[in-house]
Amino acid sequence: MRKGVKFGLILILLLLLTGCTEKQEPAQERASVVVGFSQLGSESSWRIANTASMEQSAEEYGFGLMMENANQKQDKQIDAIRSFIAYRVDVIVFSPIIQTGWDHVLKEAKQAGIPVIVMDRMIKTEDDSLYTAYIGADFYAEGRRAGEYLIRKADAIGADSLRIVEICGTTDSTPMRDRQRGFMDVIRKDSRFQVIASVNGDFLRSKGEECMRELLQQYGPDGFDVIFSHNDAMMLGALDVLEGTEDPAIQKIIRITVDGEKEVVDALKEGRINCVVQCTPHLGPFVMNLVKDIKEGKEVRKTYHPDEGAFTDLDDLSDPAVEGF
Ligand code: AHR
Repeated sequence: MRKGVKFGLILILLLLLTGCTEKQEPAQERASVVVGFSQLGSESSWRIANTASMEQSAEEYGFGLMMENANQKQDKQIDAIRSFIAYRVDVIVFSPIIQTGWDHVLKEAKQAGIPVIVMDRMIKTEDDSLYTAYIGADFYAEGRRAGEYLIRKADAIGADSLRIVEICGTTDSTPMRDRQRGFMDVIRKDSRFQVIASVNGDFLRSKGEECMRELLQQYGPDGFDVIFSHNDAMMLGALDVLEGTEDPAIQKIIRITVDGEKEVVDALKEGRINCVVQCTPHLGPFVMNLVKDIKEGKEVRKTYHPDEGAFTDLDDLSDPAVEGF
């Protein structure tokens, strides 16, 4: 064979081989188990840590993870779930932005025989068979912990009347509804407490800041005694405003928040916040373990809550367990 022809044949062979390699399936298709995960957004440090926990745990378990971030839009989450069904993933995991409006798409997943794990926030449905299990915090208990702290604090400082402003998370989301309900169930029996305003901060730092500006404008620096923020991001936004306001009345405001991120636990230790109710974002290991059990055909529990507590200025903050995520 002539030299040029030989070279041409080798080249064609190489190109064919490269072509075959390029057509190989993506990593997720080669993994033994593929999880479709619809994350609701990136609104807080909590959410970012939760996404990282899911990614890291999927890798540790050797599962493929197809993740879609919905940027706070329910219809984007519904589209993502539909795409996971079309792709025939092994298990669907989703963190629902709000509680209602999921039945339709979950029926489609059920018809396709794909198990669904609801993670972090919960859904409202008449038909429990639409999801296999729920893994997430007991938000009602978190709200109660916030209320119980306030009662202890009022006793400790001998307060006989405390006016509360509440900065709420996303309307119709489980943490918003249940934290509020738990808090109210504890304090409403005690006549020392009065909620004078409940405003929506959407779990965002920027909105927490906005809310605090408006509250200060409406009530003045000595017009309220307690802030109950449904998450750390909004409390940090509120702190930005409070700490930029020179009025001695501001110092006395009792500050209660939920999550436990590092910046906020540090602020608690520095005396800038009074109580941090814990809500762990590290749900990935629970979720992936459950995926494994489901794939192995094991019986699984319907509801899993992680163990959580609260850090407060009435307790020993030098304890090494007092740490943020
Ligand atoms: O659903 C959990 C809540 O959502 C967290 O408290 C909050 O920080 C997040 O955005």
